[in-house]
Amino acid sequence: MRPLVAGNWKMNGLASSLGELSRLKEALAARAPAYDVLVCPPVTLLARAVDAAAGAFAVGAQDCHALPGGAYTGDISAEMLRDSGASFVIVGHSERRQLHGERDGDVAAKAGAAWRAGLTAIICIGESEAQRDAGDANRVCGDQIDGSVPEGATAANTVIAYEPVWAIGTGKTPTLTEITAMHGHIRSVLVRRLGEAGRGVRILYGGSVKPDNASEILNLPEVGGALVGGASLKASDFLSVIAGLSPS
Ligand code: 13P
Repeated sequence: MRPLVAGNWKMNGLASSLGELSRLKEALAARAPAYDVLVCPPVTLLARAVDAAAGAFAVGAQDCHALPGGAYTGDISAEMLRDSGASFVIVGHSERRQLHGERDGDVAAKAGAAWRAGLTAIICIGESEAQRDAGDANRVCGDQIDGSVPEGATAANTVIAYEPVWAIGTGKTPTLTEITAMHGHIRSVLVRRLGEAGRGVRILYGGSVKPDNASEILNLPEVGGALVGGASLKASDFLSVIAGLSPS
């Protein structure tokens, strides 16, 4: 399975940030990487990011509407993202679930929209700290997969990102044992739900992945890559995270 290291810029980045993408392109173009790299900038920079990447890495979006078009002021369809050069879209990020009230059914509809437009959906799941403390993390994440991952998910059209809510932007991470256990649980739910196709779907870890912890997390056999927030904004940090893929 080819690992995927994805950067989620969230609501950060102006035209002046495109230089980071040029630096990323220079560094990646010099290698023949055995992994996939993706950057998800704000949608305002999407088309320019595709130009800056020049094929050295993929470009994706952070959300989409479920419908292809219509009277939905301010919304953006998966088809529009594809038209701008995106190849991936993140759906169901915990910030969308928490701040925009998105529920599993909404996330499943958005994942279906991504497939309809020819995009790979990165479907995010993850428990809160209270849910983990209550011993509920496995059930919560299993339920989120059941509700958010539509029938028809394959390794080609879907990536799962396990992002414990309490680890996002906090500097806190689960232990390696906890990450291994949760990724194993997610795999078993995917296989139960999707059959053989569930074995090939990449499962990323996200939440406070930094240059200093990337190597130990990325080299866990159950981890298929990372979804990186803050440490993806600077090319130098993101390249250090990516470098963690080679065992040190
Ligand atoms: P941080 O890497 O900043 O914790 O963010 C993780 C995240 O939410 C990526 O989608």
